[in-house]
Amino acid sequence: MAILRSKGKLDISYVPSKVLCRDREIQTLKTLVESGGKALISGEVGTGKTLLARYTFKDAILVNCFVNRSEHAILERILSVSRPGFNPSGLPSRKLWDQIPDDIMIILDEVEGISIDDLNHFLYTLSRRSESGRKLRYVAITRDANILRQMIGDNAIWSTFAEKAVVHLRPYRHEEMVEILRYRAEEALYEGTFDDEIISLIADISLNSEGHMRTGIDILRNSAILAEKEGRDIIEPEDVRSANLDIWLGGLERMDRDLLLVLLSMARASRKKAYLRMEEIEKIYEMECELRGIERIDLLLGLSRLEEEGYVSKRGEKYALLIPSKVLIEEIEGLIERSDLF
Ligand SMILES: Nc1ncnc2c1ncn2[C@@H]1O[C@H](COP(=O)(O)OP(=O)(O)O)[C@@H](O)[C@H]1O
Ligand SMILES: [Mg+2]
Repeated sequence: MAILRSKGKLDISYVPSKVLCRDREIQTLKTLVESGGKALISGEVGTGKTLLARYTFKDAILVNCFVNRSEHAILERILSVSRPGFNPSGLPSRKLWDQIPDDIMIILDEVEGISIDDLNHFLYTLSRRSESGRKLRYVAITRDANILRQMIGDNAIWSTFAEKAVVHLRPYRHEEMVEILRYRAEEALYEGTFDDEIISLIADISLNSEGHMRTGIDILRNSAILAEKEGRDIIEPEDVRSANLDIWLGGLERMDRDLLLVLLSMARASRKKAYLRMEEIEKIYEMECELRGIERIDLLLGLSRLEEEGYVSKRGEKYALLIPSKVLIEEIEGLIERSDLF
């Protein structure tokens, strides 16, 4: 009984053999670095920035600037890879710069992590060096080029560092997420352990989270682990919903009675299914209303309100629940018991 064929292929640091949906961006990145020796990748969390840089420049030295925050620490990290025998301790940064080989490529990930005291000096020295024909090439990565520009605050430094060299990665759309997740699932999981609806549900949940593709890969891995733990060899919709770690239920308390009932019906109907047709929800909703002697509301309207609140996602004519149905049913039943709304 197994689902995961190769768990390591879903690690954040794993570089897959194909990077889908970013052909144009990869081409631009290559062109920029070949012609000018530098580029800045921008984009929100989980848009594939780190992957794109690592995939495009396989021999580059990767420095995470949230881990190595000072100029000295960054240079030490670069030297530890490019000159493993060299001992930089006790030497000032200036001396370390002298030791950096000319012909290397650096990836400065999360460049906004550099301490504000060192940021300008480091970027200035770096870009001057790259411009002076010494062939030091770099790709810097940031979540937001405008914020970085403001942090730098100096137009001259900004323009030698990154001007006209920004590659922006917009968030993936649903169909792109599906294509990427399917490919990653085929690489890492056994055949027949997931279906198209599972992949689409992971994409829908990820689109509703801040982590985008990062959330997507996490959910893929965690849902496979959950299903395996339960002794199944197939991933079910509830595994996917439960694998999402940023479940948020804070909105339930202030939800009105009618909407709570629509959500409860949706949850009951979703136990074994990823996506539901309107009629499938309606059947259960009618029963719930009858049972409690409550007038029905317009279901379409109810569902679109739930969509706005982030509990439900509409895909074509169907609806997907994004939160584990078990958790929701328990919560809502608890609320109903405690409240005098019913
Ligand atoms: N186009 C893609 N093809 C395949 N996997 C991708 C793609 N984009 C992102 N990923 C995967 O999604 C996750 C998040 O990507 P990452 O590069 O860490 O994003 P960022 O650095 O923008 O936060 C990683 O596991 C990465 O391998
Ligand atoms: Mg990253």
